Amino acid sequence: MKKLMTALTLSVVCGFGIAQNKLVVEVDKPVCKIQPTMWGVFFEDINFGADGGLYAELIKNRSFEFTKPLMGWEVLNGINENVLILNRVKENPKNPRFAQIVIKNGQKPLGLSNEGFRGMGVKQGIGYTFSLQAKVKGGEKGVIKGELIGADGKILGSTSVEITGSDWNTYKVDFVSNATDLKAHFVLWFEGQATYDVDMISLFPHDTWKGRPGGLRKDLVQLLADMKPGFIRFPGGCIVEGRNLANRYQWKNTVGPVDQRQVIMNRWNTEFAHKQTPDYFQSFGLGFYEYFQLAEDIGAEPLPIINCGMACQFNSAETVDTSDLGTYVQDALDLIEFANGELNTKWGRLRGKMGHPAPFNLKMMGIGNENWGPQYLTRLKIFTAAVHDRYPDIKFINSSGTDPSGDRFDFLNTRLREMHADIIDEHYYRSSDWFLANARRYDKYPRNGSKVFAGEYAAQSDKIASPDNKNNWQCALSEAAFMTGLERNAAVVSMASYAPLFAHVDAWQWTPDLIWFDNLKAYGTPNYYVQKLFSTNKGTEVVPITLNNDAIAGQDSLYATACVDEHSKELILKIVNVSGVQKHEQIDLEGVKRTSSFIKLTILGSDNLQQCNSIQNPSAIAPVNQQIDQKGNQVKLDFAPYSLTVVHIVLK
Ligand code: AHR
Repeated sequence: MKKLMTALTLSVVCGFGIAQNKLVVEVDKPVCKIQPTMWGVFFEDINFGADGGLYAELIKNRSFEFTKPLMGWEVLNGINENVLILNRVKENPKNPRFAQIVIKNGQKPLGLSNEGFRGMGVKQGIGYTFSLQAKVKGGEKGVIKGELIGADGKILGSTSVEITGSDWNTYKVDFVSNATDLKAHFVLWFEGQATYDVDMISLFPHDTWKGRPGGLRKDLVQLLADMKPGFIRFPGGCIVEGRNLANRYQWKNTVGPVDQRQVIMNRWNTEFAHKQTPDYFQSFGLGFYEYFQLAEDIGAEPLPIINCGMACQFNSAETVDTSDLGTYVQDALDLIEFANGELNTKWGRLRGKMGHPAPFNLKMMGIGNENWGPQYLTRLKIFTAAVHDRYPDIKFINSSGTDPSGDRFDFLNTRLREMHADIIDEHYYRSSDWFLANARRYDKYPRNGSKVFAGEYAAQSDKIASPDNKNNWQCALSEAAFMTGLERNAAVVSMASYAPLFAHVDAWQWTPDLIWFDNLKAYGTPNYYVQKLFSTNKGTEVVPITLNNDAIAGQDSLYATACVDEHSKELILKIVNVSGVQKHEQIDLEGVKRTSSFIKLTILGSDNLQQCNSIQNPSAIAPVNQQIDQKGNQVKLDFAPYSLTVVHIVLK
């Protein structure tokens, strides 16, 4: 961030403590509407974002479907011969494997211990449901004891179930943990002389989001809900594409009973040599139904991205022949039916059966993730024609590839605009200097025609995909500066989302990320607070804010945007000061008669650009509120060094 440092050095060398500019806001000259979808979130199952993260299941590899069927499990008091992995593919093609435990006469109880997702986070006084599918050989009876064990070996809770029949049955039992532990594990003890068959072994906390059994982690959803996102993009990301077509995200395998959702390898598991996570799979316990429900819960529009017949072009680049694209197109059509269809349709009926008879009101869909080249356009055209034929109101998000410039981008951006694409998805994982330099990126984009979705972006303190990237204040501040340019250009930019969203501190592959968590706690990064401040102070219409008759995008190290909120009758300013000196500014409000003197300020800042938040110090950088009284149409405000300030000026 050369510019930031230059500004700091200059001010120190020249000894100017205070600068004064006159900022002009033309309150009565609305430029364009700000879409309710403007600021959203991008969810991908990367960094243990779903399994081990948002999806609150504590047992890893609950159905023995990982490539190594006993990964995550340890056999206690026994030898491997006591445990057999059997396959019943004809009876249960989506979930074929189960474990058979044989306890011989006189043998000590045998244990199957599950390590969880880098341990299990459990809390004192919270209830847990232990459940499994099981049977015992004809005539035999058995007891399976469950023990929750802390990192120090102490028993935190225990329970047991009696297994009686020789047909598969689901057994469920609740118990309470007597202590809090970040790294607990769970052991099933098989007692007596019997042959047990077990599958779908599960341990779920009761304190999920909205208390839903088998639901989502409450603290993580709360952090999302607090952002009031306009949309949730789901399920990614490269995970949509898969390393190859077989590994692509297929939404139909993620709905219906959880034991019928086919587990697959997570494409991020061994992608990066620096962060191998071979135990990363997708159980799809958080599938498309839970996703639509989550979006509805927190008032966000769903924005599903579906595979366009192309696997990740960084991996296999496998591409389906156009003559075989029918299945992929059908998946898109059926997804719309699942979200919006009547209960007498096949997929609408399933939605109703899963507990949501009302439609989810899906309005838009992304075709492909970071796909590029003419092969993408060929497939996109087929998708667009087929879906629009049946659902003319659905808006499409189209890919412009992986980068915000270069041949791939230019080719797609030109062609997509010629094709009158609804919304073009641009991605930028760039340095903080790039973000500052690109605050005017959209000033010259055509106002008519295709809109832009800034679908994935994050300032990189090192370089893309580097494990050394940090969620520091320097990156977050440059994103804030850039985002003033997105908001100023809301006539062009209709949606934006930082990416990726979640990362487990012990199991990530990609950094930086918006929200970090361990098995018990979570925190928002400085970047999170920037996103949250923009999203929760969105306003409804952009109005001009200028310095010397020019948009404020770097002059005197300031970046600014202004909007009015027609509901609250407020003027909302977002002012970013990327210099190391406090700015004292006069703001002239034109075209309005202020009758109230009330001004609310929310300030996010730090004089340390390298500052990050952490589990231990989650609020090192967090917003601070102030209220002041100033009458009249000339307001004088101070803007702290290296800060984002959101100003609410009551206009009534
Ligand atoms: O956000 C991480 C990855 O970055 C996404 O999966 C992909 O779309 C992009 O390359």
